[in-house]
Amino acid sequence: MANSTAPQDDATLRVAVLASGTGSNLQALIDAVAAGMLRVRIVLVCSDRPGCQALARAQAAGIATWARAPREFASRALFDESLFSAIADVQPGLIVCAGYLRLISPFAVARHAGRMINIHPSLLPAYPGLDTHARAIADGATSHGASVHFVNAALDAGPLIAQARVPVYRGDDAPTLGARVLAREHPLLVRVVGLFANRRLRLRDDAVWLDQQPLPQPLQLRDDDTLTLSGTPIDA
Ligand code: GRF
Repeated sequence: MANSTAPQDDATLRVAVLASGTGSNLQALIDAVAAGMLRVRIVLVCSDRPGCQALARAQAAGIATWARAPREFASRALFDESLFSAIADVQPGLIVCAGYLRLISPFAVARHAGRMINIHPSLLPAYPGLDTHARAIADGATSHGASVHFVNAALDAGPLIAQARVPVYRGDDAPTLGARVLAREHPLLVRVVGLFANRRLRLRDDAVWLDQQPLPQPLQLRDDDTLTLSGTPIDA
């Protein structure tokens, strides 16, 4: 069963998603496709956590899945060889790391440069890595948020595409702040994938280009879910 209501044609962007857990970002993409808001075809969902909820979400949407436990492989490189072989079989135009918690091997990053993005729950370059909400609160940050960036060989350090900013309130703890951030991740990711679907985004010389122009700073997601560049909507 196709997971898109839009008529499929060769021009439709094929997307593979990597996830390790709940899969709420994956679900946001699935729902946007089903609602006709996102003209892509999610062709494969891969996970390093067999049995995780993201895989169940994919199966419920009729999307093929690949899942293996890293302990089945003698090394990280062998796991990634198997993972990216499965990905190569479906020939995606875009790979989305959405709640995927493993570092990706340099060979895979190089092979997919410009076609692999990650969503991270902080305003990068602040707080790469884990426990971003607790760290922001501990530092007394007054704002926090989420970032979508191209994946490179470093952890959460690739060229920034777009960000969504949220306030940090005095009474926040990691769960309350995390929920506020997660609620903005979903429209942020859907709109960035939409820019790829419309062939508007490129990685060129390690910089993000939108509509044939280098981005001077990351796009910002407004409260009304509009993506803006220097305050001007870009009608994603
Ligand atoms: C999200 O905050 C994502 O940014 C991070 O993992 C969290 C869970 O994502 N990488 P999901 O619900 O599994 O999509």
